[in-house]
Amino acid sequence: MRLMSCCGFGATFSSMLVFLLLINFCHIASILGQKSDSALTVVESTEGGGGDEEEEVTVDEEEEGDLDVVQPTEEWQTLKPGQAVPAGSHVRMNLQTGQREVRLGEEQLKYWTQEHREPEEIEASFSPEELKQAMKKIKEDLNAGSKDTEQKDSVASKFRPLEELKRDMAQLDLLVETDVQIMKRLLEQFNSSNSTTEQRLSILLELEYLVHQVDNAQTLCSMGGLQLMLQGLNSSDFRLQESSAFVLGSALSSNPVVQVKAVESGALQTLLTTLATAQQHRVKKKVLFAVASLLRHFPYAQRHFLSHGGLQVLSELFRADGGGILRTRIVTMLYDMISEKELISQAGLDLVLDASHEERVRQYSKVSLQGELLEKGWCGLVPQLLESTEHDFREKALRALLAMSPVCLDQYRSDSALLGSLLILRDQYQEMVQSEMILGEENSYFSEIVELIDALQVKMK
Ligand SMILES: *[C@@H]1O[C@H](CO)[C@@H](O)[C@H](O)[C@H]1NC(C)=O
Ligand SMILES: *[C@@H]1O[C@H](CO)[C@@H](O)[C@H](O)[C@H]1NC(C)=O
Ligand SMILES: *[C@@H]1O[C@H](CO)[C@@H](O)[C@H](O)[C@H]1NC(C)=O
Repeated sequence: MRLMSCCGFGATFSSMLVFLLLINFCHIASILGQKSDSALTVVESTEGGGGDEEEEVTVDEEEEGDLDVVQPTEEWQTLKPGQAVPAGSHVRMNLQTGQREVRLGEEQLKYWTQEHREPEEIEASFSPEELKQAMKKIKEDLNAGSKDTEQKDSVASKFRPLEELKRDMAQLDLLVETDVQIMKRLLEQFNSSNSTTEQRLSILLELEYLVHQVDNAQTLCSMGGLQLMLQGLNSSDFRLQESSAFVLGSALSSNPVVQVKAVESGALQTLLTTLATAQQHRVKKKVLFAVASLLRHFPYAQRHFLSHGGLQVLSELFRADGGGILRTRIVTMLYDMISEKELISQAGLDLVLDASHEERVRQYSKVSLQGELLEKGWCGLVPQLLESTEHDFREKALRALLAMSPVCLDQYRSDSALLGSLLILRDQYQEMVQSEMILGEENSYFSEIVELIDALQVKMK
């Protein structure tokens, strides 16, 4: 059979499975054979047969007589691309050189010393039908996960190369870099004094992608990556600041383990300092993202945020932000903090409580957010976001205003600008709802906004 030219081989057969397996096969061949057209030497792990990467060749596809077959000896010798070896040889990948090496296998050694030559056990050719059968058999084996002992007469048993493809694939897994290895390499490169800023930026980009996985983010911490990201926040290059904050924010998102580690490593102070001193809008945006991810569902961090003057930093940021994007993010963050605390205390009303819930309620009770909001002037700041022209920004502002109303009502009532804005906005959105209804649309986004305004006005009466 022509496994040798496997890359032009798949289309001959209709079976998708055959095709897919052969694609893998080609892939393996190109890795082990270093992208050469070498014969596919299918290999199998030896058990305790020497080095970790040592493999025994059990079948060798030889054909057309133009193959350069290497005769192995008792010493390891390097295989050149395109060279094949007799069945039973030991082949290993030298990970230092990336080259394949061959020597006599155990069986061969035995035969060799006994002046025997192993008879060539090569199955000359298989029809497409037989091949399909073999593939089916492999698939069944994979499904059953069993080592079938009754294959002696089946096509599959004769068709050793494909049978061993399974093991070969498992081998391949070992050659593929795992996320942990990748992260280790990236962090070492990032930490190396030789790396340029451009290289560091691209490393951060890769890390940001990886830490979306919960495990990877935790690995980042255990490898000391958190500290490196915090140093990145301190960098004098704003691009490094921005990307480091991005990695941090993504690692912290919905990852309690990382959130705790970050607070323990003093991330909150570094983030707040960066937020207070950053010049570039881009940096502020990403650092704010990291702060929000750190505080989310983490009352302990929220308490420290408040006691470290977090609301003060945010109010400066709010006042300085003309565009409204940062304002909206800040207001959303405050809204999230208020509502998650409320949700926790409300859950107590109708759920059977466990100890952890009580603990959570206890921790949230120490977050005196509402009082701080009043004290730091947020009852007057948040209404300013209504001046934005973006519907989305206004909606966020209205939700926050409602959430803050328990402590802010008195101030709202005496805020003539807010009263005026609400009247104008209500008219505007009511009009939009009506023109939408003419078009046959109901329950639109705009009617939601009208409801929010109504709810706020009712409270303010
Ligand atoms: C930095 O680069 C020099 C050569 O440019 C090399 O000798 C040295 O080992 C490198 N250091 C690190 C930490 O990679
Ligand atoms: C970064 O390098 C310093 C020494 O240059 C070393 O002390 C530190 O452990 C390294 N950090 C990481 C995360 O590799
Ligand atoms: C960042 O810089 C501040 C002062 O410049 C310093 O106190 C802090 O330790 C630095 N943090 C890190 C993680 O390097």
